[in-house]
Amino acid sequence: MSILKIVEYPEPILRIKGEKVETFDEKLRQLIEDMGETMWDAPGIGLAAPQVAQSLQLIVVDVTEPGEEKTFMALVNPVIVAHEGMQVDEEGCLSVPELTAKVDRYKKITVDYQDEQGNPKQLIAEDRFAVVLQHEIDHLNGILFIDHLSPLKRNLYKKKRKRMLLEAGQEN
Ligand code: NI
Repeated sequence: MSILKIVEYPEPILRIKGEKVETFDEKLRQLIEDMGETMWDAPGIGLAAPQVAQSLQLIVVDVTEPGEEKTFMALVNPVIVAHEGMQVDEEGCLSVPELTAKVDRYKKITVDYQDEQGNPKQLIAEDRFAVVLQHEIDHLNGILFIDHLSPLKRNLYKKKRKRMLLEAGQEN
């Protein structure tokens, strides 16, 4: 297992739609293990393959029950097939440093996906878990949570991020 490098905005790979996973082999399972480890290390509660520079339809999400050992699950080729209601929650992203913001999301979603062996599955998620899944599935379509903010807030962040990168560049 190894910890992968998380790419950050504005890396172009974050804007590319991930390829559908067709091969369920040891390489895929290794990537899933590494993504899980990378997510714990960050630490985060969800991670999408494009965030580790793999342009694939694959996410991992934290499914730890309170008081239980840490557990994550992988969803391969996930698609939201039904939704209900709306909710607003605070979001952040490992690829969008130093920003959290409130985002409108569906309250309840049904997701079709495949497990790491390629078996077709379906799950229903609500509340915070539904938020995490919507955020991660967005990544697979090149969408970041800042895209859901007002143009004003998004532009403020773009300026801030430019400044951050400029300052980081000057230190090197
Ligand atoms: Ni994210």
